Amino acid sequence: MTYQIKNICCIGAGYVGGPTMAVIANYCPNIQVNVVDIDPVRIKNWNSKDLSRLPVYEKGLKEIIRKCRDINLHFSIDINKHISKADMIFISVNTPIKIKGFGAGQASDLKWVESSARQISKFAKGKTIVVEKSTLPVKTASLIKQILEIDNTNEENKVFHVLSNPEFLAEGTAINDLQNPDRVLIGGSDKEAIKALVNIYTNWVPSTKILTTDLWSSELSKLIANAFLAQRISSINSISALCEMTGADVKDVSSAIGMDKRIGQFFLNPGPGFGGSCFKKDILNLVYICNHYGLKEVAQYWEKVIEINHWQQKRISKIFVEKLFGTITEKRIAIFGFAFKANTNDTRESPSISICKDLLEEGARISIYDPKVTRKQIGINLNMLESRSLSNESNGSWTFSKSTHEAAENADAILVLTEWEEFKDLDFKNISKIMRKPSWIFDTRSIINVEEAKLYGINVWNLGKGN
Ligand code: NAD
Ligand code: UGA
Repeated sequence: MTYQIKNICCIGAGYVGGPTMAVIANYCPNIQVNVVDIDPVRIKNWNSKDLSRLPVYEKGLKEIIRKCRDINLHFSIDINKHISKADMIFISVNTPIKIKGFGAGQASDLKWVESSARQISKFAKGKTIVVEKSTLPVKTASLIKQILEIDNTNEENKVFHVLSNPEFLAEGTAINDLQNPDRVLIGGSDKEAIKALVNIYTNWVPSTKILTTDLWSSELSKLIANAFLAQRISSINSISALCEMTGADVKDVSSAIGMDKRIGQFFLNPGPGFGGSCFKKDILNLVYICNHYGLKEVAQYWEKVIEINHWQQKRISKIFVEKLFGTITEKRIAIFGFAFKANTNDTRESPSISICKDLLEEGARISIYDPKVTRKQIGINLNMLESRSLSNESNGSWTFSKSTHEAAENADAILVLTEWEEFKDLDFKNISKIMRKPSWIFDTRSIINVEEAKLYGINVWNLGKGN
């Protein structure tokens, strides 16, 4: 039989659930889409009249919310009600690394997935297609299926089909990635269920870009895509250190190798290491799975990608201190950028967090400016109260700045950690006047105008560029 999808429920109104469902609602006006969450504050913000309060900042998102919300896109905490009305349910909850118990530090914590599956099992009615949207370890679909069938005894015509449909969007470009995906991947065993999901995507995605496969290949492909992307970053970051030693320029090396079609030009930008909620956790999970299957060498190979990432961050902190005469105690440091990448307010696993913590540990007084990250978020990430002023503390301290100018005032050095557009065009004439001498700028993203900084007497250190 062909499934008619008229009502979708998405469990999890986070970075993935919110934007993904907004795009589905936008392209499928005949489908009612309900995004539910256990977090009432998140849901309140998704429903806020003031669209600047949406929990996720993504270009193009506000416009879709304005158009579809309360028409065929709804945000609610009434999870059970919306599960029971849905023909198709996406599980889009968080799947962080376990912090205790078996597999702590590597395996995914599936407790949120399990509780979603239990709730679906209890409240779903009739035939329901359950779609894994969260990134999950290979074989999770069979666990979900087992849980879904627990409560099946009471109602005879309850039927579940489980599909895997991992999400490949990147933050900062989420709406564009969802509207023009490189591919949509759907794994499953029931042809009609797969067809129902394919039919949703064909409303805007060319069918040549929709790949269908079995459940395990689909689940594993998501982990592997992230592992390969992260591996490229660790590769180029490892070479950035070699360039600094040899006098080569990593940007030129990256352009030269990227022009080879077989290597490709994307994802070869050196930087302070990858951040974001997923690369590290997904590779750790891959390592865990490999060890589980006794593939020690494979596990060690992928573990190195994370090790290099950590090493790169420590390396930057160390060079920074060394260049500032070996001590930064009580020195004023301006941090430009706290988000893990540009165009997002997300700070999860941001390299800025570990680098700022290193500098604080060394006794620096840091003033942090990021165009999108709030003062509250920075405090949470640094696990330290903001200082009222930068001058009274002998230990490390931090304050929040509202502009690059404010952050750079009286600073000994600026450290550029996120590649925000506005850092590409800094007013060095003015900045040089308000900084202490000798002034330094450390560019970990290779985005500043080096010639201009030098012209105004600022010393420049560029990641991956030998002298
Ligand atoms: P998130 O933390 O932003 O959102 C998850 C949401 O799920 C939270 O709001 C949480 O309150 C809610 N939730 C948890 N348990 C629930 C339950 N039982 N019922 C209802 N709501 C519940 O996470 P995210 O970034 O959206 O990631 C979700 C999944 O998608 C993860 O598996 C992640 O690996 C994957 N993913 C994330 C990205 C990304 O860019 N963030 C991209 C691709 C895939
Ligand atoms: C990444 C993947 O790109 C998405 O396909 C995937 O869906 C997502 O993870 C996920 O599963 O969560 P995201 O983490 O949002 O997306 O952002 P990326 O653009 O991949 O950047 C990740 C990190 O790598 C950032 O810290 C970024 O600054 C860094 N990066 C990226 C580099 O240092 N160099 C590059 O060339 C590219």
